[in-house]
Amino acid sequence: MEIKFFGHSAFQLDNLVVDPFLSGNPLCNDKAEDVSCEIVALTHDHDDHLGDTWGIAERNQATFVAMYELALVGESKGIRSIGMNMGGTVEAGNWKIKMTPAWHSSNLGAPAGFVFTHESGLKIYHAGDTALFSDMKLIGDMGIDIAILPIGDTFTMGIEDAAKAVEFIRPKKVIPCHYNTFPPIDADPEAFAKLCNCEVVVMNPGDSVTV
Ligand code: NI
Ligand code: MN
Repeated sequence: MEIKFFGHSAFQLDNLVVDPFLSGNPLCNDKAEDVSCEIVALTHDHDDHLGDTWGIAERNQATFVAMYELALVGESKGIRSIGMNMGGTVEAGNWKIKMTPAWHSSNLGAPAGFVFTHESGLKIYHAGDTALFSDMKLIGDMGIDIAILPIGDTFTMGIEDAAKAVEFIRPKKVIPCHYNTFPPIDADPEAFAKLCNCEVVVMNPGDSVTV
């Protein structure tokens, strides 16, 4: 499948979009109006994640997957919404989506991460915004193919903690995110890569990779 990086924490995984913050991102050249998807998943409601969520979900008549309290907001906008909470798994299209904890804050509900399992068996962990936590070992026990981890520090893990997270998660590949969008989260992805014991795929905003 194709993985596209829109910048910051926004990715498209096949037909699923997560944290689509596009129009407010100075480094993103993709237009929210051009995004085509069937599912929109949101880790938490900070502006740099919520971004274009509602517009993209409405225009695509996509299914919105998020923390229960955020799903209620989606429903109130007429968007088909699946609410869930930490530890739960739901089915949406050809995906199973498990919600994982994240050590962070949010306006509504609580912040989370996701393990997305595609019908092909591919497992992608998008950590959302989070500090390092040792229960990432349990997420690693699920057999993660690709881990998408924040490395920008200040609001999330920095590169050293993110490298420790890689040890816990044991993914085949890791994609760093949530860095260099704004000055407080400047980080060097190559320095992060040197600290990791697995393949690090550094993507620039707009890049796609086939996995
Ligand atoms: Ni946040
Ligand atoms: Mn953030």
